[in-house]
Order: sequence, then structure tokens, then C-alpha cells
Amino acid sequence: MRKLYIQTYGCQMNVHDSARIADLLRETAGLELIETAEDADVLLLNTCAIREKAQEKVYSQLGRWRPWKLARPDLIIGVGGCVASQDGAAIRERAPFVDIVFGPQTLHRLPQMLRDLASEKRPQVDVSFPKIEKFDCLPTPRASSATAFVTVMEGCSRFCTYCVVPYTRGRELSRPVADVLTEVSALAAQGVREINLLGQNVNAYRGRTADAAAERVDLADLIRAVAAIAGIERIRFTTSHPMAFSERLIDAFADVPQLVDFLHLPVQSGSDRILAAMRRGHTVADYCTKIERLRQVRPHLTLSSDFIVGFPGETADDFAATLALVERLEFDHSYSFIYSRRPNTPAAEYPDDVTLNEKKARLEQLQHRLNHHAQRISRHMIGTTQRILVEGHARKDMNQLAGRTENNRVVNFTGTPDLIGNFVEVTITEALPNSLRAQLTSPVITASISE
Ligand code: 5AD
Ligand code: SF4
Repeated sequence: MRKLYIQTYGCQMNVHDSARIADLLRETAGLELIETAEDADVLLLNTCAIREKAQEKVYSQLGRWRPWKLARPDLIIGVGGCVASQDGAAIRERAPFVDIVFGPQTLHRLPQMLRDLASEKRPQVDVSFPKIEKFDCLPTPRASSATAFVTVMEGCSRFCTYCVVPYTRGRELSRPVADVLTEVSALAAQGVREINLLGQNVNAYRGRTADAAAERVDLADLIRAVAAIAGIERIRFTTSHPMAFSERLIDAFADVPQLVDFLHLPVQSGSDRILAAMRRGHTVADYCTKIERLRQVRPHLTLSSDFIVGFPGETADDFAATLALVERLEFDHSYSFIYSRRPNTPAAEYPDDVTLNEKKARLEQLQHRLNHHAQRISRHMIGTTQRILVEGHARKDMNQLAGRTENNRVVNFTGTPDLIGNFVEVTITEALPNSLRAQLTSPVITASISE
């Protein structure tokens, strides 16, 4: 079998896309995925354009592959993902040795592009947006553990002023309900117990049903339908936007026990002035009201978020408001970034008088507070009983097992390999900076919820 290596940058959606590419090329092009780039016949780079740093990585990685291509002209190099979508054929101006350029919406055409490359002996570029066609062309996913991602929608139509996603991934597009449920059932049949519904803006999900005249199904109903599938005992979703976070979704948190006690809901800033400049479409109060409503039905909910610091025009007061919000809502482990100017986005034109040093200092301060809250939440978990899904062996110690709590913490504990893929109960004994240690209390918890 010829060998395939995929280097992935960026978000969970890219990680998931890479897995689907590997499935597709194994089935249709006889390519076997390997871990060492040096031994590959086909090298793919799945790229991210969200910040400048991620984008620059692409060209430095291609620079490292260039001599390999010179030494072995039959080596195939392909570039996909958001940088490919943004730069298209221009990728080949900076890296003329690239054979294939494909976008997030054309990755399913890779087998054909590889065939055309072989027969036409010229580079192939396709970064178009052929809508839902992609999903119909991808094989049934192979489960690699007891937890799996299922794409329910792609793209974003919100156009926050700093963000490239609506341009690189296209507008919101939902998969039909039946397709999502078929995929979840196929994964459940392979032993998957936890489903993470994936999309750039999942609460904008509006899935078609078989009845074209019927109202579309929203995320709340989709969650209920997924929860009804035998074997699915945990449901997460990533990522959502505060605006479309509906009462119906809050109701789903109230009465779907499989929905985890955890929510990642990006707020970006704690200043109304900055939220308006970002064109987020909500205020700090709107956000807090939703979280308060949610905490009424889920008092133990853990909340995480994304933050951007140093947005053009962000004053010391604006930043102080972000810190105040972090104290008020006590966010758990979150992602925070320095604002990065992205070409062709509205914010790229905004005057920006905050120095990079100041931005770095703000980021450090924010991360320090976020980390403080995350460690506090971890410490509070010591002595509690947690239900965890055992995903495999611990990364650093093959004699230990690793699983995840509802609030996404990795837990390492001593146990036998037959527990992998099952839910168990553990008592947390120690909180480390990036994981927890625990003792097994109840070996296997059976599928109590779906029975
Ligand atoms: N600069 C910095 N961070 C950004 N994000 C999106 N665009 C930018 C940008 N131009 C962050 C947001 C988003 C996360 C995925 O990446 O916080 O929620
Ligand atoms: Fe980007 Fe805003 Fe859409 Fe999130 S909601 S992907 S930040 S445009």
C-alpha cells in the first residue's frame, strides 16, 4: 500500500477533516495513513488561517518538505484547509512544488484530484464550495475510540469583524437530520458512547427532514434524537455562539441527562464597546443572562470560553471589564488569544494603537486568572466521585488508564484494559495542572441512561 502522512493545524474541525481524509483515501485510493512524514508517498497539509502565526506555519512546513520533493519528484504534496481556501492557486506562487490545493469543502474530491494529477501530469487546484455534496461522498467513519465527533453543520454566517471563517469555510450549511443520525448509529454500533456534535456555529443548526415542507430541526431537537440512539450516553457540542443559544437549548439541558454538565461558549470580550466593534450581536448582559438561566437548570455546569485580547481600540478599561467577567462567571480552562489582523476582514482596517507589548501583558494577566479558576475547580473535585468514559491507556504510563470527566478533564487511574470504552466511577485523589489522578470505585457502569 502507498503511504499517506497528514500534518494538521488548527481547530477540532480540521482534526476531524483529516481523519475523514484518511478514511476516504484508504478506501478509494489505497493509501495507508502513517505517522512518519519521511516514509510517505503523499504528504498533505491541513491548514488553519485563523491567526497569522498559524498561517505562517504552513509556508515554513512547506519549506521543510521542498527538498524532499526535489530529491523525489514522484512525492505528492497537497495543501488543504483554510489557508488553501483563502490563497487558492496563489499557494503555488510561494510554493510551486505543491501538486494539489483543495479546500475544506472539496476534500472529498481528493481521490479524483490524485487520479487527474497522475493522468494529466499537472497541478490540481479546487477550492470551490460545492455545498453538501461532500458528506455524500465520505465513507462511514471508523470509530477510533469510545468518543467521536460528528459534523452537523459547517461554516459560519455571522461575520464577526475579526474572523476569516465565513470566508474560508463558507456560510452555514446543515446536514440533513437523517444523515447525522445514521452516522451516530453507525458509530454507536462500533462501541462509541460519547458523541461530540461538531460545527463552527452548531446552534445555528437547521436540518432538513424527509418531509421537505416540514419545519427544520434545530440543535435542541437534534440532541434529543441523538440521545434516543441506544448506546449514546454522553453528548457534547462544539462550538456555539451566544446569540443563537436558545431557550429550547436551555430546555434540552434541563431534560436530556446525556448532555454533559459542561459548555464551551465563546464570549471574546467583557466590554460592550468591544463586542459591538467585533459585531458579535450581543452584550455582556445578554451573555450573563443566558449563563444564569442555564445554571438554574444545571447548577454544577462548568463553563469555558474563547477570549481575544488587544482587539483594535481595546482600552485598559475594556480589558478590565473582561477580567471582571472572568471573576463573575468563573470560567474554567479557556482559550485566549492576542488579536491577529486577518486580510480582508473589516477589523483589519480599524486603527489599532495598543502596542504588542501591552497586548502580551494583557494576555498573560488574563491567562493567569483563567488558570487560577481552572485549578480551583480541579482542586474542588478532589474527594468527589466522577463518572468517566475510559478512552484508552494513559499517555505517559501504559499501566494506567485515562478517561474524561463531564467537564473535560483527563483522569488517570489504575485499572485493567477491559475497562477501555466503558463508563466507570472513580474518586478523584489529586489535581495536577493538566490532569487529575483517581482511584477506581465502581468498575463498569452499564448503559443506565439509554436502557
Ligand atoms: N485573532 C485572534 N483570535 C481570533 N479568533 C478568531 N479570529 C481571530 C483573530 N483574528 C479566536 C476567537 C475564536 C477562536 C476560534 O479563535 O476567539 O472563538
Ligand atoms: Fe468566526 Fe464569529 Fe463565526 Fe465564530 S461566530 S466562526 S468567531 S465569524
